[in-house]
Amino acid sequence: MGYEFLAIEQNEGICTLTINSPRTLNALNTQVLDELGRFVDSIGSDVRVLIITGAGKAFVAGADISEMSSKNYEEGLEFGRFGAGVFRRLEQLPIPVIAAVNGYALGGGCELACACDIRIASERAQFGQPEVKLGIIPGFSGTYRLAKLIGQGRAKELIYTGRTMRADEALSVGLVNSVVPDEELLTKVNEIARMIVANAPIAVAKAKQSIAEGYDMNADEAIAFENRLFAECFSTEDQKEGMAAFLAKRLAEFKNK
Ligand code: COA
Repeated sequence: MGYEFLAIEQNEGICTLTINSPRTLNALNTQVLDELGRFVDSIGSDVRVLIITGAGKAFVAGADISEMSSKNYEEGLEFGRFGAGVFRRLEQLPIPVIAAVNGYALGGGCELACACDIRIASERAQFGQPEVKLGIIPGFSGTYRLAKLIGQGRAKELIYTGRTMRADEALSVGLVNSVVPDEELLTKVNEIARMIVANAPIAVAKAKQSIAEGYDMNADEAIAFENRLFAECFSTEDQKEGMAAFLAKRLAEFKNK
């Protein structure tokens, strides 16, 4: 089954997913979320880095307010669970995911960016969780992930006020890794993606797993977990190749094995 609201391009292990419903600033309705979920579930081992961006002037301007406006408690529960589930599966992909934040990243858009591994913003990007202005709270795990990324104090201020943060402020609080001029956004993001693709895929996946899962553990558990993943790397062909290539002063040719 194809996608109505997603445009997908793939080149040398780098897949770029563009959320493409610019008429509503790429708002996340059930269909867009469903397509996003199906896409995430279908990603194969040929994809080594995923880039997510938005068509037009927005990254994603939030969950679809028209769709949410008539929901009751049960429907709110289901919608939140559905969106949060899609973002969780995205977060748990074994490959790095980079958000190329090209414009408004509000509500569910900010939450989507937070579910990615790396966020690069264009100068016109704007971030915010304006849900309380609509009588709701962030419902796709924003209260959890934003607080983890920028700290509780800053997350609380953003969420309680519903105010918008410009790209330079997002950089200063660590919400984004860097800010680039609009026209350089995809070039910069692809540059990062190519650097990742040149590395040993299993090692990159284990690094992601170690950081993500270790973050919620205590120090001793996290260090032991890293130790196990570190050791597992020595069972891969790519570790033999990477080290042999270094010692022979040649480029490594990794096989994802
Ligand atoms: N859900 C549904 N539709 C949305 C939307 C959303 N989250 N965000 C924007 N749209 C729609 C607008 O209703 C408008 O539709 P229309 O042309 O049929 O009137 C269209 O997208 C363009 O948006 P518009 O508001 O005219 O653009 P703008 O440049 O003046 O303002 C924003 C841009 C992002 C500041 C403004 O659209 C906005 O505040 N959006 C809602 C953000 C939000 O609260 N997100 C959290 C949702 S939980």
